[in-house]
Formats: sequence, structure tokens, C-alpha cells
Amino acid sequence: MSLFWRNFLLLAGLLLLSVLAWFQVFRTLEQEPRALQSAQGLASLVNLTRAALLYTDPIARVALVKTLVDEENVRIAVREPEDIHRPFEPNTSGHRVAQALIERLGPGTIVAREVNGFDGLWIGFTIEGQNYWLLADPSRLEAVGGRTWLAWLATALALSLVGAVIITRLINQPLQRLAQAAARVREGDFDGARLDETLPTREIAGVNRAFNRMAEQLARADADRRLMLAGISHDLRTPLARLRLEVEMGVPDAPTRERMASDIADVDTIIGQFLDYARERPTVLAPVPLAATVERAVAPYRPRGDVRLRIHVPEGLQPLADAAGLQRILSNLLENAVRHGRSADGCAVIDIEATAAERDIALTVRDHGPGVDEALLPRLTEPFFRGESARTTPGSGLGLAIVRRSAERMGGTCELRNADGGGLAVTVRLPTAP
Ligand SMILES: Nc1ncnc2c1ncn2[C@@H]1O[C@H](COP(=O)(O)OP(=O)(O)OP(=O)(O)O)[C@@H](O)[C@H]1O
Ligand SMILES: [Mg+2]
Repeated sequence: MSLFWRNFLLLAGLLLLSVLAWFQVFRTLEQEPRALQSAQGLASLVNLTRAALLYTDPIARVALVKTLVDEENVRIAVREPEDIHRPFEPNTSGHRVAQALIERLGPGTIVAREVNGFDGLWIGFTIEGQNYWLLADPSRLEAVGGRTWLAWLATALALSLVGAVIITRLINQPLQRLAQAAARVREGDFDGARLDETLPTREIAGVNRAFNRMAEQLARADADRRLMLAGISHDLRTPLARLRLEVEMGVPDAPTRERMASDIADVDTIIGQFLDYARERPTVLAPVPLAATVERAVAPYRPRGDVRLRIHVPEGLQPLADAAGLQRILSNLLENAVRHGRSADGCAVIDIEATAAERDIALTVRDHGPGVDEALLPRLTEPFFRGESARTTPGSGLGLAIVRRSAERMGGTCELRNADGGGLAVTVRLPTAP
């Protein structure tokens, strides 16, 4: 669930509860006085009617009754003992008014909501032993209409919810910006990751300031590293090249010369591995024809008598990859197989196989050498980790770390296992190009 929805739902729930509580308070505080007010009005009406009927002569009485009907919408009827009447249900506003009326007019008063099947507000009263009904307009009972209140309530709730949306967005936006800026920093875009430090909210401005300082420091460290790498590659490789030339020209003894040249080549390779691991080349993802890439990677080993290659890469497989990165993966795996994975006869037998699954392509490079101790397998892709076989071979321990990092930067994975029948099998999975 997103932060926005969580905060919004919590706020909305809170608002709904408070509106309902407020409504309940209003009902309790407002309805009682309103019932008393209605009862007071009705009691006055009954008393006035009674007095008027009592003190007018029979002819004026007819006119009076007619006036009451016309002006007050009140009817008078004689109450018979066999009249059937129904009282108001408890807990309604009618019931409350009825009780207040009985209190005012005396215990003999009857208040009913229906007499002989006719709905209305019926009040039974007595004049000189004679019983009468007074039928008043039942709308007198209604408090301010329930619907009006509901409409107000709905409006208040809707406005509150709009407020909740605004508040939630205010909380959410800085967090979203922070997440976006962090993603930019991860991709190395330090300039695009600047956050606003002049915001009026003190805490958010503080977080933004701290984030900007951190991004600046990272940018500086990144620039330093680039400078240092450029320095290493230039300052070490230039004298190395000179040394190679001097060895070629100046060492007369052929075996010594070859050994020195091989050592120089090792140092050069190690520097190359360092640079490959440390330098962040931008990853450019594009469909890469796998068979051709594999062919290019194995080309230097083809002429060698001590390397036997068995390649099963169907034509037409195209992973979505960075061409240079894929080349680097393959050359490291091949180099490892040749260096650490020779069979008992001293030959390196290398199987390269590619299979397409639903969403990705699996490329496996496998040798038939001694393999690796199971316990060490998970550690091989750590930078600078070198196994048993490495005691006697040159290397930096960065090869498999480069393989894993390159695969991950292309959105793929790298998996190591000891193959059935001996030898290490490294499987790199890359997404299939659409
Ligand atoms: N095919 C293999 N068979 C047996 N062991 C292997 C194989 N490939 C790698 N290893 C072991 O894994 C270790 C790490 O390999 P990795 O490629 O990272 O480093 P490296 O080959 O020693 O040096 P680098 O590749 O940087 O020159 C190696 O030192 C070796 O012990
Ligand atoms: Mg290696």
C-alpha cells in the first residue's frame, strides 16, 4: 500500500469518526430543547382552542372551528370511547413531544399518531367532561428535516476529504522527490539530484540540505576516483610498455626474455582487471546477437592446441545487453576456464551453451577441470577473493566479481555451480530482447 493511500485512509477514517461524533453530540444537545419547544407550542394551541371553544356561543364556535382549519391547519373532532388510537413509538421525536405534552396538559391527555386508521398528530383533551380530538399538522413534530442535516453532513465530509487529500499530498511529495533524487544518485546523476533547500517547512528543508551535502560528497568521491583511475592506467601502463620494449631489445637470453615478457603481460592484465572493476562505464542496453559475440570472444583461443571448444549457441538468440559488458563477461569466464579449469591431461575443454527460456536467455560456460570446493562457491564472486587453484596462477581475484556486476547492471543474474561430472559451470541469465 502506498504512503499516500495509507495516510489518506487514516485521515478519512478520523474525519468520518469525528463528524459522526459531532453529529451525535448535536442530536443530544439539540433535539431535547426542540421537542420541548414543539410541545410548548402544541400545548398553547390546545389550551387556546379549549378556552376559545369554552367561551364562545354555538354560532361563533362554528366560525371558530373553520378559522382554526383555515389558519392553523387544526381540526377538532369529538372523541368517542370506541375510537382506536396508536401512540408514537418510543425513541422517536414524536414520543418525546408526546411526553412533554402530557406533562404540560395533565395526565388525562392522549397523544396518538393514528386514530381509526387516520395518520396525524392527534391530541385528546376534555372540555367540561366532553372529550375531543385536536388533529394538528404532523410536520410540527419534525425537527429541522433529517435530509437537510444529511446534506450538510455529506458536504462537511466531502470538504474534509478534499482537505485530507491535500494534506496527504503535502506529506507525500517531499518523500517522493527524495526517492527520485536517491534514484538519480544511484545512477550517478549527481547534478540532477539536487533538492530544494529553501522550502518553508523546516524539517523537510533540513532533510533536503543533508541529502544535498551527501550527494555533493559522493560526487566529489566519484570525481576523485575517476582521476585516480586515469592516473593509474596512465602512470603504470606507460612505464610498463617501455619496460616491455627494453626487455625485447635488451635481454639476450631468450627463456629469460620470455618469462619477463609474460610477467609484464600479467601485470598489464591485472591493471586491466582493476580498471574494469572500478570504472563505471555507462551500460547501453541493446539487442546483441549472441552467437556472433561468443564467436568473437573465443577467436583468440581457436588457434591454441591446449584449448578445446564445444559451442552450442543457436543462431538468432538476442539478449538485451551491453555489448562491451557481455564481451567482458565471456572473456573473464574463458580466461578462468583456461587458467583454473584444465582437465587431468592439461587441456582445457570448454562447453559454451545457450538456451532461451520464456523471458531470458541462459548462457553457460563450463569446463571439465577440478571445480571448486562447494563451501567456497558463494564467495567466488566477491572482489579480490581467490580460491585454492589461484596460488600458482597470476590474477587479481576480480574476474568473477566483474562477471556478476556486469550481469546485474544489465538486469541479469550470474550463478555458479559444480557441474555433474566435474568442472565449474557459470550460468549468466540475461533478459531476452523484445
Ligand atoms: N573455472 C574454474 N575452475 C576452478 N576454479 C575457478 C574457476 N574459475 C574461477 N575459479 C576460482 O575462483 C577464483 C576467483 O576467480 P576470479 O576470476 O574472480 O579471479 P582470478 O581468476 O583468480 O583473477 P582475475 O580473473 O581477476 O585475473 C579463482 O581464483 C579460482 O580459484
Ligand atoms: Mg579470473
